[in-house]
Amino acid sequence: MTAQFPAVRPRRLRRSEPVRRLMAETRLDPAQLVLPLFVREGFAEPRPIVSMPGVLHHTLDSLRGAVTEAASAGLGGVMLFGIPEQRDALGSGATDPDGILNRATRVAAEEVGGDLVVQTDLCLDEFTDHGHCGVLAPDGSVDNDATLERYRDMALAQAEAGSQLLGLSGMMDGQVAAVREALDGAGRSDVLLLGYAAKYASAFFGPFRDAVESALQGDRRTYQLDPANRREGRREAVLDIEEGADVVMVKPAMSYLDVLADVAATSPVPVWAYQVSGEYAMVEAAAANGWIERERTILETLTGIRRAGADAVLTYWATEVAGWLRGR
Ligand code: PBG
Repeated sequence: MTAQFPAVRPRRLRRSEPVRRLMAETRLDPAQLVLPLFVREGFAEPRPIVSMPGVLHHTLDSLRGAVTEAASAGLGGVMLFGIPEQRDALGSGATDPDGILNRATRVAAEEVGGDLVVQTDLCLDEFTDHGHCGVLAPDGSVDNDATLERYRDMALAQAEAGSQLLGLSGMMDGQVAAVREALDGAGRSDVLLLGYAAKYASAFFGPFRDAVESALQGDRRTYQLDPANRREGRREAVLDIEEGADVVMVKPAMSYLDVLADVAATSPVPVWAYQVSGEYAMVEAAAANGWIERERTILETLTGIRRAGADAVLTYWATEVAGWLRGR
């Protein structure tokens, strides 16, 4: 008997939909998706964000509906961003209990705090008149250690407002340790910290900067990572974990899957990825032109991010995708 050729037939694993479904190595679940939401002070009605078709600037009122929908869809969480009407050099609105983000947090916590994880962006860039993620030294550079003092106060204000998980996105050295210490000192050891460990100075943040009406002149290259660096992304994740981060993140997602896979391979804590505004906008623009299939593309991007090692993903499509997943 001559051996049958080919002896190995991997295609058997792809022969039918039920076989493929059984063999899938990666799955998407609404509980692993987190929806970022923008709340704009001073608008009477929600308004579309032009560079992010389908995403809104919420009012406190429309936020209520959006978080309720997110909870009904079974999402793991919502991540809140606030856009204030007034800005100043210190980003005072970030620590004001009546600042827009803290007010929005109270609304979300009251509405869905028992159903999903209410999370807040802990960074000064939406609140400063210069648009940087920290406060400035007299020479105009971002003052790392003075910024940490602002982050400590911001953390306490956000915890007080009802945030359950703080997203430390400012890329200041020592931010996780500083915020952990402030919270623990105030008896808030219950609040989780997400270190945006490997956050790159990315052009893919462009539409987000529109969304938050960013005042930034220049760039963030003295604090966000150089897109050329993979080793440095791993190092930042290690540091955040040592400082006490409960979760670490890689951001953006799709152009940084190698960094994500590296961090996921060694991290003792959960690893998340942020599919950022530019990733969203690219797919929406191509789909609007009929150049790609929207739903398949979106699911493929999220599957790829999960396959690379993300335990959960922040994505502007979270609620919609959860609906698709349920419909199956
Ligand atoms: C900083 C922050 C940014 C994003 C989330 N948090 C932008 C930046 O660093 O300029 C980007 C998110 C996105 O592009 O979707 N507060």
